Amino acid sequence: MNNLLTASLEWIDARYPLSQQWNEHLAKYYAPKNFNFWYYFGSLAILVLVLQMVTGIFLAGSYKPDATLAFASVEYIMRDVEYGWLIRYMHAIGASFFFIAVYLHMFRALLYGSYRKPRELLWIIGMCIYMALMAESFLGYLLPWGQMSYWGAQVIISLFGAIPYIGEDLAVWVRGDYVISDVTLNRFFAYHVVSMPIILLGLVFVHILALHHVGSNNPDGIEIKKQPKNEKGWYLDGIPFHPYYTVKDIFGVGIFLILFALAIFYAPEMGGYFLEKNNFFPADPMNTPLHIEPLWYFTPFYAILRAIPDKLGGVVAMGASIVVLFFLPWLDRSPVKSIRYKGMVYKLALFLFVVSFFGLGYLGMQAPTPTFTLLSRILSVIYFAFFLLMPFYSVWDKTKPVPERLTD
Ligand code: HEM
Repeated sequence: MNNLLTASLEWIDARYPLSQQWNEHLAKYYAPKNFNFWYYFGSLAILVLVLQMVTGIFLAGSYKPDATLAFASVEYIMRDVEYGWLIRYMHAIGASFFFIAVYLHMFRALLYGSYRKPRELLWIIGMCIYMALMAESFLGYLLPWGQMSYWGAQVIISLFGAIPYIGEDLAVWVRGDYVISDVTLNRFFAYHVVSMPIILLGLVFVHILALHHVGSNNPDGIEIKKQPKNEKGWYLDGIPFHPYYTVKDIFGVGIFLILFALAIFYAPEMGGYFLEKNNFFPADPMNTPLHIEPLWYFTPFYAILRAIPDKLGGVVAMGASIVVLFFLPWLDRSPVKSIRYKGMVYKLALFLFVVSFFGLGYLGMQAPTPTFTLLSRILSVIYFAFFLLMPFYSVWDKTKPVPERLTD
C-alpha cells in the first residue's frame, strides 16, 4: 500500500509540483513560533469563504432572481426545501461571521503593525478583499427582495447621484432603471454569484502568495527571516506551519463552528443584527420604511455618511473613511511594529479608534436625532484623527527597545 502511494506521488510529482507546493506552503513554510489568538482569523476567513461558496451554490439551486418570485422562493427554501432553512441560515449568518472574522483579522494588523514593510502590498491586497467583500454582501442583500433589501439598495445607489455631472446617469446605469427593479435584481444576482466570487477567490489567492513570499509577522513584530538558521535549516524562531499551526488552526475551527452553530440554531436573527425584521416583509416600492439602515458591518461608515449634512460631502467622507486604510503602511512612522513595544500614545489612539468605530457602528443603527448627529460628528473626527495624526504621534510616541528573539 505504502509503495503504491509513493509510486503515485512520484508519478504526480513528475507531472505537477505537488510535493514542492506542499513543502513550500505547509511542511516547510516557517512561521514565527509565537502566534496567538489573533492569528486564528486568517484561516477562519478562508473557512467562511468556502462555506459561503458551498451554501451559496445550494441556495442558487432553488432561488429565483425575478422580482415577482424572489421573496417567495426564499420562503420556499426556508419551508419546503430539505434542510433549506439550514443552508439559508448558514449563508445569511455566515455573512456576519465573515465580517467578524475579517474585522478581527484587520485589527490584529493594527496591534502588531502587520501592514508595515515588507507587507504593504499584502495589506493593500487585503483592503481590496475587504472592499470586494462589502460589494459582495451589498449585492447579496438585495436578493431576498425584502423591504430592507429594496430600500437599503435604493438609498445606497442613490448616493451615486451626489457625484457632480455624471451622478444621476451613473445611478441609472448601475440600477438599469430609474428605481430598483427586476432589472437591478437580475444583474445583482449575476454579480453576486459569478463576478464577485471569482474576484474574491483570485484576491485571496494572491493574498496568500504575497504572505508566503514575505513571511508572517508576529505579536513581537520581529522579522524571523532576518535571523540565522539552525542546524535543521529553520529560522531560529520559526516552526513549520504543518503540523504545528494546522493543529492550532483546527482547534480554532472547532471553537468557531460551535459559535456558528449556536447562532444558527438558537439565535439566527440575533435581535435583528444578522437578519433584520423589516426583511421579513416583501419589497414594496410604494411603502418606504420609517427607518432604513444597513446591516451592522456597514453602520460605522453609514454613520459617517449621515454625520455630514451635505450629500456629496457625506459620500466623500464615507469613501475617505475606507480609502484612508489603504495608506496605513505609510501613515505609521513608528520605529517599531508591534504594540508591545509602542508607547502610551499609540495605545490611547488605538483605544479611541476602537471606541469611535463601535460608537459609529451603534449610531449608524439609530434613527438620527440632533444629539446622535452631534455624537456621530465627534466620533467621525476621532476616527479620522487616528489615521491623519498618525504620522506625527507615531514619531513622538516613546517606544521600547525590540529584542532580537521572540519573547513568548
Ligand atoms: C477573505 C478574506 C481574507 C482571507 C481569507 C485572508 C487570509 C489570510 C491568511 C490565511 C493569513 C495568514 C494567517 C493569519 O495571519 O491569520 C492572512 C494574513 C494577513 N492578512 Fe488576510 N485574509 C483576508 C482578508 C484580509 C483583509 C481584509 C486584510 C486587511 C485589510 C488582510 C490583511 C492581512 C495581513 C496584513 C496579514 C499578515 C498578518 C501577519 O503576518 O501578522 N487580510 N490573511
